Amino acid sequence: MHTTSVSYSFGQERGQWNGASEEQLLAAIDRQRLPVHVAIIMDGNGRWATRRSLPRVEGHRAGVGALRETVEVCGQLGIRYLTVYAFSTENWERPEQEVGFLMELLMTVIEQELPRLCEHGVGLRVIGDMGRLPAQVRERLTEALKTVPAEEKLTLCVALNYGGRAEITRAARLLAHDVMLGKVRLEDIDEAAFASYLYTAGLPDPDLVIRTGGEHRISNFLLWQLAYAELWITPVYWPDFRRVHLYEAILDYQRRQRRFGRI
Ligand code: FPP
Repeated sequence: MHTTSVSYSFGQERGQWNGASEEQLLAAIDRQRLPVHVAIIMDGNGRWATRRSLPRVEGHRAGVGALRETVEVCGQLGIRYLTVYAFSTENWERPEQEVGFLMELLMTVIEQELPRLCEHGVGLRVIGDMGRLPAQVRERLTEALKTVPAEEKLTLCVALNYGGRAEITRAARLLAHDVMLGKVRLEDIDEAAFASYLYTAGLPDPDLVIRTGGEHRISNFLLWQLAYAELWITPVYWPDFRRVHLYEAILDYQRRQRRFGRI
Protein backbone atom coordinates (compact mmCIF):
# COMPACT_ATOMS: atom_id res chain seq x y z
CA MET A 1 0.00 0.00 0.00
CA HIS A 2 1.27 3.46 -0.84
CA THR A 3 1.13 5.67 2.21
CA THR A 4 1.98 9.31 2.62
CA SER A 5 2.34 10.98 5.97
CA VAL A 6 0.98 14.43 5.37
CA SER A 7 0.48 16.11 8.71
CA TYR A 8 -2.26 18.70 8.93
CA SER A 9 -1.09 20.37 12.09
CA PHE A 10 0.14 23.93 12.40
CA GLY A 11 3.72 24.75 11.52
CA GLN A 12 6.28 23.96 8.85
CA GLU A 13 4.78 20.63 7.77
CA ARG A 14 7.08 18.67 5.54
CA GLY A 15 4.72 15.92 4.31
CA GLN A 16 6.19 12.76 2.81
CA TRP A 17 9.69 14.22 2.46
CA ASN A 18 10.05 14.79 6.17
CA GLY A 19 13.59 13.89 7.19
CA ALA A 20 15.29 14.82 3.92
CA SER A 21 17.52 17.88 4.08
CA GLU A 22 17.09 20.87 1.79
CA GLU A 23 20.29 19.85 -0.05
CA GLN A 24 19.08 16.27 -0.52
CA LEU A 25 15.79 17.46 -1.93
CA LEU A 26 17.50 19.87 -4.30
CA ALA A 27 19.89 17.15 -5.48
CA ALA A 28 16.96 14.79 -6.13
CA ILE A 29 15.27 17.21 -8.57
CA ASP A 30 15.68 16.14 -12.19
CA ARG A 31 16.62 19.37 -13.98
CA GLN A 32 15.58 17.88 -17.33
CA ARG A 33 11.98 17.40 -16.21
CA LEU A 34 11.19 20.63 -14.44
CA PRO A 35 7.67 22.02 -14.72
CA VAL A 36 7.90 24.83 -17.29
CA HIS A 37 5.11 26.80 -15.65
CA VAL A 38 4.30 26.76 -11.93
CA ALA A 39 1.16 28.51 -10.68
CA ILE A 40 0.50 29.24 -7.01
CA ILE A 41 -2.64 29.95 -5.00
CA MET A 42 -1.03 31.78 -2.09
CA ASP A 43 -3.56 31.01 0.64
CA GLY A 44 -3.50 31.10 4.40
CA ASN A 45 -2.18 34.61 5.06
CA GLY A 46 -5.12 35.52 7.26
CA ARG A 47 -4.96 32.31 9.28
CA TRP A 48 -1.19 32.67 9.67
CA ALA A 49 -1.74 36.08 11.26
CA THR A 50 -4.71 35.04 13.37
CA ARG A 51 -2.67 32.17 14.84
CA ARG A 52 -0.20 34.76 15.98
CA SER A 53 -2.89 37.10 17.33
CA LEU A 54 -1.96 39.61 14.64
CA PRO A 55 -4.29 41.54 12.35
CA ARG A 56 -4.98 39.58 9.11
CA VAL A 57 -3.10 42.15 7.03
CA GLU A 58 0.14 41.19 8.77
CA GLY A 59 -0.23 37.82 7.07
CA HIS A 60 -0.25 39.54 3.68
CA ARG A 61 2.82 41.54 4.64
CA ALA A 62 4.61 38.36 5.70
CA GLY A 63 3.48 36.73 2.44
CA VAL A 64 5.67 39.12 0.45
CA GLY A 65 8.78 37.45 1.89
CA ALA A 66 7.54 34.02 0.79
CA LEU A 67 6.86 35.38 -2.69
CA ARG A 68 10.34 36.91 -2.90
CA GLU A 69 11.97 33.60 -1.92
CA THR A 70 9.79 31.64 -4.35
CA VAL A 71 10.70 33.93 -7.27
CA GLU A 72 14.38 33.60 -6.36
CA VAL A 73 14.24 29.79 -6.17
CA CYS A 74 12.29 29.48 -9.44
CA GLY A 75 15.00 31.59 -11.09
CA GLN A 76 17.77 29.45 -9.60
CA LEU A 77 16.11 26.21 -10.71
CA GLY A 78 15.42 27.40 -14.24
CA ILE A 79 11.62 27.46 -14.11
CA ARG A 80 10.39 29.59 -16.99
CA TYR A 81 7.01 30.87 -15.76
CA LEU A 82 5.63 31.52 -12.30
CA THR A 83 2.05 32.73 -11.94
CA VAL A 84 0.76 33.85 -8.56
CA TYR A 85 -2.83 34.57 -7.52
CA ALA A 86 -2.44 37.90 -5.75
CA PHE A 87 -5.98 39.32 -5.85
CA SER A 88 -9.13 37.68 -7.15
CA THR A 89 -12.29 39.29 -8.50
CA GLU A 90 -13.96 37.98 -5.31
CA ASN A 91 -11.42 39.65 -3.00
CA TRP A 92 -13.23 43.00 -3.38
CA GLU A 93 -15.82 41.53 -0.96
CA ARG A 94 -13.28 41.65 1.88
CA PRO A 95 -13.41 44.46 4.44
CA GLU A 96 -12.51 47.80 2.87
CA GLN A 97 -9.51 48.18 5.15
CA GLU A 98 -8.02 44.84 4.04
CA VAL A 99 -8.58 45.63 0.35
CA GLY A 100 -6.97 49.05 0.85
CA PHE A 101 -4.02 47.43 2.60
CA LEU A 102 -3.54 44.91 -0.22
CA MET A 103 -3.55 47.71 -2.81
CA GLU A 104 -1.01 49.72 -0.80
CA LEU A 105 1.11 46.62 -0.35
CA LEU A 106 1.01 45.96 -4.05
CA MET A 107 2.32 49.45 -4.81
CA THR A 108 5.08 49.15 -2.22
CA VAL A 109 6.09 45.74 -3.52
CA ILE A 110 6.25 46.99 -7.10
CA GLU A 111 8.39 49.93 -6.05
CA GLN A 112 10.75 47.93 -3.85
CA GLU A 113 11.08 44.77 -5.89
CA LEU A 114 11.32 46.22 -9.41
CA PRO A 115 15.11 46.81 -9.35
CA ARG A 116 15.63 43.29 -8.00
CA LEU A 117 13.48 41.80 -10.78
CA CYS A 118 15.45 43.70 -13.43
CA GLU A 119 18.77 42.76 -11.86
CA HIS A 120 17.91 39.05 -11.78
CA GLY A 121 16.42 38.89 -15.27
CA VAL A 122 12.85 38.33 -14.16
CA GLY A 123 10.12 39.44 -16.57
CA LEU A 124 6.78 40.78 -15.32
CA ARG A 125 3.31 40.26 -16.65
CA VAL A 126 -0.09 41.00 -15.15
CA ILE A 127 -3.27 39.05 -15.88
CA GLY A 128 -6.71 40.24 -14.82
CA ASP A 129 -8.89 43.30 -15.17
CA MET A 130 -6.58 46.20 -14.40
CA GLY A 131 -9.42 48.61 -15.25
CA ARG A 132 -11.06 48.18 -11.84
CA LEU A 133 -7.91 48.77 -9.82
CA PRO A 134 -7.53 52.17 -8.12
CA ALA A 135 -6.05 54.69 -10.58
CA GLN A 136 -2.84 55.06 -8.56
CA VAL A 137 -2.20 51.31 -8.57
CA ARG A 138 -2.98 51.08 -12.28
CA GLU A 139 -0.58 53.90 -13.10
CA ARG A 140 2.28 52.42 -11.09
CA LEU A 141 1.68 49.02 -12.61
CA THR A 142 1.64 50.44 -16.12
CA GLU A 143 4.92 52.22 -15.40
CA ALA A 144 6.44 49.05 -13.95
CA LEU A 145 5.36 47.00 -16.93
CA LYS A 146 7.17 49.48 -19.20
CA THR A 147 10.47 49.08 -17.37
CA VAL A 148 10.48 45.28 -17.08
CA PRO A 149 10.27 43.06 -20.16
CA ALA A 150 7.29 40.66 -20.27
CA GLU A 151 9.49 37.69 -21.20
CA GLU A 152 12.77 36.84 -19.55
CA LYS A 153 14.61 33.75 -18.29
CA LEU A 154 11.86 33.65 -15.68
CA THR A 155 8.57 35.44 -16.16
CA LEU A 156 6.59 36.37 -13.06
CA CYS A 157 2.94 36.61 -13.93
CA VAL A 158 0.78 38.29 -11.30
CA ALA A 159 -2.95 37.56 -11.33
CA LEU A 160 -4.56 40.78 -10.15
CA ASN A 161 -8.29 41.35 -10.03
CA TYR A 162 -8.34 38.03 -11.79
CA GLY A 163 -11.18 35.53 -12.08
CA GLY A 164 -11.22 32.50 -14.37
CA ARG A 165 -14.88 32.85 -15.35
CA ALA A 166 -14.51 36.57 -16.00
CA GLU A 167 -11.48 35.85 -18.17
CA ILE A 168 -13.35 33.26 -20.26
CA THR A 169 -16.40 35.53 -20.60
CA ARG A 170 -14.19 38.40 -21.73
CA ALA A 171 -12.44 36.16 -24.25
CA ALA A 172 -15.80 35.02 -25.65
CA ARG A 173 -16.90 38.64 -26.00
CA LEU A 174 -13.69 39.70 -27.75
CA LEU A 175 -13.84 36.72 -30.08
CA ALA A 176 -17.52 37.34 -30.89
CA HIS A 177 -16.62 40.93 -31.69
CA ASP A 178 -13.92 39.81 -34.12
CA VAL A 179 -16.38 37.40 -35.75
CA MET A 180 -18.87 40.26 -36.15
CA LEU A 181 -16.16 42.39 -37.78
CA GLY A 182 -15.35 39.52 -40.12
CA LYS A 183 -11.80 39.18 -38.74
CA VAL A 184 -12.42 35.56 -37.63
CA ARG A 185 -14.48 32.93 -39.40
CA LEU A 186 -16.63 30.61 -37.25
CA GLU A 187 -14.95 27.54 -38.74
CA ASP A 188 -11.54 28.86 -37.64
CA ILE A 189 -12.47 28.90 -33.94
CA ASP A 190 -10.64 26.10 -32.20
CA GLU A 191 -9.04 25.79 -28.75
CA ALA A 192 -5.85 27.57 -29.79
CA ALA A 193 -7.80 30.41 -31.40
CA PHE A 194 -9.93 30.81 -28.27
CA ALA A 195 -6.90 30.71 -25.97
CA SER A 196 -5.37 33.60 -27.88
CA TYR A 197 -8.15 35.83 -26.45
CA LEU A 198 -7.37 34.93 -22.84
CA TYR A 199 -5.19 37.13 -20.62
CA THR A 200 -2.61 34.35 -20.74
CA ALA A 201 -2.22 34.41 -24.54
CA GLY A 202 1.28 33.26 -25.36
CA LEU A 203 1.94 31.65 -21.97
CA PRO A 204 2.14 27.86 -21.79
CA ASP A 205 -0.48 26.23 -19.55
CA PRO A 206 0.71 25.62 -15.98
CA ASP A 207 2.18 22.14 -15.41
CA LEU A 208 2.06 22.34 -11.64
CA VAL A 209 -0.34 24.22 -9.37
CA ILE A 210 0.57 24.68 -5.75
CA ARG A 211 -2.06 25.65 -3.22
CA THR A 212 -0.98 26.57 0.29
CA GLY A 213 -3.30 26.77 3.28
CA GLY A 214 -4.74 23.27 2.86
CA GLU A 215 -7.99 23.95 0.97
CA HIS A 216 -8.79 21.55 -1.87
CA ARG A 217 -10.24 23.89 -4.47
CA ILE A 218 -9.33 25.91 -7.52
CA SER A 219 -11.11 29.13 -6.44
CA ASN A 220 -11.75 30.48 -9.95
CA PHE A 221 -8.04 30.42 -10.81
CA LEU A 222 -6.97 29.79 -14.42
CA LEU A 223 -10.02 27.63 -15.15
CA TRP A 224 -9.20 27.11 -18.82
CA GLN A 225 -5.44 26.79 -18.39
CA LEU A 226 -5.45 24.21 -15.58
CA ALA A 227 -7.14 21.49 -17.66
CA TYR A 228 -4.16 19.11 -17.33
CA ALA A 229 -2.18 20.69 -14.51
CA GLU A 230 -0.92 18.58 -11.61
CA LEU A 231 -2.17 19.82 -8.24
CA TRP A 232 -0.06 19.93 -5.10
CA ILE A 233 -1.73 21.05 -1.92
CA THR A 234 0.04 21.76 1.32
CA PRO A 235 -1.38 22.74 4.72
CA VAL A 236 1.52 25.19 5.10
CA TYR A 237 0.26 28.78 5.25
CA TRP A 238 1.65 30.99 2.50
CA PRO A 239 3.90 33.16 4.76
CA ASP A 240 5.59 29.92 5.94
CA PHE A 241 6.19 28.63 2.41
CA ARG A 242 9.92 28.12 1.89
CA ARG A 243 12.24 26.70 -0.75
CA VAL A 244 11.97 23.19 0.76
CA HIS A 245 8.23 23.20 0.12
CA LEU A 246 8.80 24.15 -3.52
CA TYR A 247 11.37 21.38 -3.85
CA GLU A 248 8.87 18.91 -2.39
CA ALA A 249 6.17 20.04 -4.81
CA ILE A 250 8.51 19.64 -7.78
CA LEU A 251 9.70 16.21 -6.63
CA ASP A 252 6.13 15.07 -6.20
CA TYR A 253 5.30 16.40 -9.67
CA GLN A 254 8.25 14.51 -11.13
CA ARG A 255 7.02 11.23 -9.62
CA ARG A 256 3.68 11.54 -11.38
CA GLN A 257 2.87 10.18 -14.79
CA ARG A 258 1.11 12.79 -16.87
CA ARG A 259 -1.24 11.18 -19.34
CA PHE A 260 -3.22 14.13 -20.70
CA GLY A 261 -6.30 11.91 -21.04
CA ARG A 262 -4.39 9.15 -22.83
CA ILE A 263 -3.55 5.73 -21.31
C1 FPP B 1 -4.90 34.72 0.52
O1 FPP B 1 -4.80 34.54 1.90
C2 FPP B 1 -3.97 35.74 0.03
C3 FPP B 1 -4.33 36.89 -0.63
C4 FPP B 1 -5.72 37.25 -0.95
C5 FPP B 1 -3.35 37.89 -1.05
C6 FPP B 1 -1.98 37.38 -1.43
C7 FPP B 1 -1.05 38.52 -1.38
C8 FPP B 1 0.22 38.45 -1.02
C9 FPP B 1 0.94 37.19 -0.68
C10 FPP B 1 0.97 39.71 -0.97
C11 FPP B 1 2.09 39.77 -1.91
C12 FPP B 1 1.74 39.75 -3.31
C13 FPP B 1 1.82 40.80 -4.15
C14 FPP B 1 1.89 40.56 -5.62
C15 FPP B 1 1.80 42.17 -3.67
P1 FPP B 1 -6.12 34.72 2.77
O2 FPP B 1 -6.19 36.12 3.22
O3 FPP B 1 -7.30 34.25 1.99
O4 FPP B 1 -5.84 33.77 3.97
P2 FPP B 1 -6.91 32.93 4.80
O5 FPP B 1 -7.44 31.87 3.87
O6 FPP B 1 -6.11 32.35 5.91
O7 FPP B 1 -7.96 33.89 5.27
